[in-house]
Amino acid sequence: MRIKDFAVERYFARYEFSAKYLLSSSDCDGYAMNYVLGLASDSERQLWEKLTLGYTETLGSEFLRNAIQQHYQSIQMDEILVASPGEANFILMNVLLSAGDHVVCMAPMYQSLYQVAMDIGCEVTFWNPLANPDSWYYNPDDLKALIRDNTKLIIVNFPHNPTGYSPNIDELNSIVELARSRGIAIFSDEMYRFLNHGSVQALPSVSDLYENSVSLWGTAKTFGLAGLRLGWLTSKNKPLLRKIEAFKDYLSICSSAPSEVLGTIALNHLDSFVKPNNAKIRANISHFEQFHQRNSNLFDFPKPTTGSTAFIKLNIKESALNFAERLVKDTGIMILPSELFDYGSSHVRIGFGRENMPEVLEILDSYLNR
Ligand SMILES: Cc1ncc(COP(=O)(O)O)c(C=O)c1O
Repeated sequence: MRIKDFAVERYFARYEFSAKYLLSSSDCDGYAMNYVLGLASDSERQLWEKLTLGYTETLGSEFLRNAIQQHYQSIQMDEILVASPGEANFILMNVLLSAGDHVVCMAPMYQSLYQVAMDIGCEVTFWNPLANPDSWYYNPDDLKALIRDNTKLIIVNFPHNPTGYSPNIDELNSIVELARSRGIAIFSDEMYRFLNHGSVQALPSVSDLYENSVSLWGTAKTFGLAGLRLGWLTSKNKPLLRKIEAFKDYLSICSSAPSEVLGTIALNHLDSFVKPNNAKIRANISHFEQFHQRNSNLFDFPKPTTGSTAFIKLNIKESALNFAERLVKDTGIMILPSELFDYGSSHVRIGFGRENMPEVLEILDSYLNR
């Protein structure tokens, strides 16, 4: 199978480790190894110190799946499959979809969530948001209007990258009911789960609500542990999980043993990661609001209600891509323009998970004033 380049990742490959400042990252700063190990209980410490570096179980080790299970309402141990998030997504699409299937996916969206389906030969229709200057909204009625007789899969991502949007529980239930009534599967990317930095309540996992769904979560965003490369799928559809497990033999086979232990410690001490991350995101949103007040003629700021990112609209003549290229060259600040999301040329993603955001905004302020 040939697959189109992943535009955001290719752009990151150009700048992530050479640009001085990153203003569009979706992950929170990576935690130090010492911090993770410092949280470990005696038994978790033993897991780490006695760890041998052989292969691990394809499904994910029992201690890791136990640590995952506690964060779901009804998911059983054999309803969990550990895989890195990109791998999990790639395999799921390959075992679930065939050429000619119809898929509905949110737009803008993390590219792999629709690109793999497109390159399999599926017809993908996008569920577009209503854009207001101060908010984004995905209307479930609009989603309903996109459903066809051959719709096989609905792909959602809440909290959403890049808009930071999450529906309320009634809206989420209405999406589940729509899928159930039409016999359509849901793939729910929940990578930003629990990044609820404001008054919006965290949603349950769709895998707990709907028997014909698969949910994805991992350590990169919620925990600030992207370097573990760890994720997992949860689903009541056990035959589907078994097919994914068998496909995984052709890719990673199993996860990294050290990552499994560190991921277990993180999952068992969720608050120690999520609370500081949410506090940082909240503080950075407030810095960004002040920055917006000083520059309100230049862009609209639909404030994110959840997640770690926002998708702002530039009110300038230049395209977002040109502006991004000029900005990184002149100041060392890297931003992600909406061309990379296949979503026009006037939006930019902003990431709130980095400690140095106030410093970066100061540099940006003086650049814009010049
Ligand atoms: C919505 C979404 N899904 C999946 C991923 C992949 O996560 P990871 O970087 O841990 O592979 C990302 C990363 O940016 C994401 O934003």
